[in-house]
Amino acid sequence: MEHSYTTYFAEIYDDVMKNVPYKYWSRYLSDLLKYYKHQPDSVLELASGTSNMTFKLIELKSVNRITALDLSPAMISKAAEKLETKLQNSQEFSSFSAAEKEMSYQLQQKQRQLRINFKAQNMTEFSFENKFDLIVSFFDSLNYLTDIDQLQNCFKSTASSLSRDGLFIFDMNSVGRIKTIEEKSFVIEGDSYECFWEDVVKAKENLWQVKLKICPDNDQLPCFEETHSERGYKIETILRLLKNSGFKAVDVYNAFSFARGRNNSDRLYFAAARNKDRLQTNQGQLKKMYYGIKNRVDYFLVSLKYFL
Ligand SMILES: C[S@@+](CC[C@H](N)C(=O)[O-])C[C@H]1O[C@@H](n2cnc3c(N)ncnc32)[C@H](O)[C@@H]1O
Repeated sequence: MEHSYTTYFAEIYDDVMKNVPYKYWSRYLSDLLKYYKHQPDSVLELASGTSNMTFKLIELKSVNRITALDLSPAMISKAAEKLETKLQNSQEFSSFSAAEKEMSYQLQQKQRQLRINFKAQNMTEFSFENKFDLIVSFFDSLNYLTDIDQLQNCFKSTASSLSRDGLFIFDMNSVGRIKTIEEKSFVIEGDSYECFWEDVVKAKENLWQVKLKICPDNDQLPCFEETHSERGYKIETILRLLKNSGFKAVDVYNAFSFARGRNNSDRLYFAAARNKDRLQTNQGQLKKMYYGIKNRVDYFLVSLKYFL
């Protein structure tokens, strides 16, 4: 990863992303889990950033162990800091303890004991002592693996960290979306900063770059620059890499629906399993239609809120 998600960007990330409908994304994830009749005890989130989705994973009642992993120590520290603040102000969790070095938290909620670990780690190569029932990644984080070998290695590590009947659910920007992003520049005005944003698209390479220049509202402090790069991969390529890594069944969805994903869908969701029969353990076509319609309506309402 070239120079991105530095300390300064980690500080303003949540403000820059304040309109991202994480709540709605988590409802879609819940519906996917219900559809596949999956009640995970343990979850690993790859490229968890400042943990906006990790906090939603806590709401899954079956979950007792969460590990949130991200390459950027600054994003991970921010996530741990947010969790501590949340817990200190929480009526819901009766006690928590933090082991500073490992960034490990033990939460007590009525009868439920929940352990949350944060880890600064590359998602191209990881292994854990215990396997996970669910591995997730959101917000095009896997597109940050711009080299195909990195994506392959990430899938391999994921397959070996997933329990036999576990699910790997992740989103990615499609090649169609990456190619058609409009090149533009604009400024995000924060309370204490200005962020100059420039989109650069290299359509032939399926590459999208975001060049950021972040200037604190303080003449004494310098501006910071970062470049974020995302690569789009064709569905066929992603399926091949998943298969090479030991995933035997994969469903691909047009994000926030239960319709089949295509290379020209904007965002794609993948549900992958090592067990070839696992995805057939589901609630059937009628429920699939129900979740599909429900999520389309939800999406419409969320878009209205966003654009109005
Ligand atoms: C668009 S952000 C998404 C963060 C978070 N998933 C969310 O929904 O807000 C992409 C994240 O991917 C992380 N990332 C990029 N390359 C990575 C890698 N090789 N291993 C782990 N994390 C990585 C970045 O540090 C950043 O936090």
